[in-house]
Amino acid sequence: MNTTVRRYDPLSRALHWLTAIAVTIAFILGPGGFGRLMRQGVDPATRSDIVWHETLGLLVFGLTLLRLLWLALRPAAPVIPMAPWMHRLAQLVHLGLWGLLLAVPVTALLTLGSEGHPLTLLGGLRVDHMPLIADSALARLADWGEVHEFLGDAIMWLAGLHAAASIYHHVVLKDGVLTAMLPARGSRTS
Ligand code: HEM
Ligand code: HEM
Repeated sequence: MNTTVRRYDPLSRALHWLTAIAVTIAFILGPGGFGRLMRQGVDPATRSDIVWHETLGLLVFGLTLLRLLWLALRPAAPVIPMAPWMHRLAQLVHLGLWGLLLAVPVTALLTLGSEGHPLTLLGGLRVDHMPLIADSALARLADWGEVHEFLGDAIMWLAGLHAAASIYHHVVLKDGVLTAMLPARGSRTS
């Protein structure tokens, strides 16, 4: 019996791709000129790009917390033989992605809370004030809008590099790294 694990478990795969799609759409909808709109007195709830951006961004946050919990409980992940430096680099990139998946939404909440702008979500949900953030010393520590924008760009660059590396593994090294994260097609190995 072949017990080699070739693929991530189905929940890890589903959460990975859902996150990748949500991050990409949130990035595309990143509200440029947000500060100007707020100064003009525009209610962000009237802007579908902002509402979708914030909803998808919070979805990413929720999915990431769920994934981190699942990481501790899930069955063994596939171990694909590769050069030690490559393995260490992949671990480093994953660590960077996990960090950014948490830091991007957190800095967004710090932006809204410290600048006194409402959080506006799909379904008419809104949070007008975040006193816990507004009153904390953290609020004055940085221009969180700038930090959020920088990290929002950084996650796309790093994810792009990560995607390119997995395509390189598939096309050049043919070592099963990419298929480990893809749906199983007609095979009984999940
Ligand atoms: C993975 C999730 C996210 C990504 C990749 C992301 C990315 C970005 C990017 C690239 C910008 C700059 C857009 C530009 O200047 O053209 C931006 C701005 C912004 N995002 Fe996000 N974001 C995410 C999550 C969130 C969440 C969860 C919220 C709200 C809770 C949020 C609220 C904002 C706000 C208010 C701005 C304008 C900031 C300012 O100009 O001061 N974002 N985001
Ligand atoms: C915003 C987009 C993306 C983010 C944030 C992201 C993030 C991550 C993270 C955190 C992991 C570790 C997962 C775990 O251990 O469960 C991972 C694994 C993986 N991702 Fe992505 N990913 C993105 C897009 C992509 C794309 C577009 C591809 C393919 C073209 C891809 C291919 C893979 C593969 C093959 C693995 C397994 C790698 C290994 O075992 O070393 N990812 N990704």
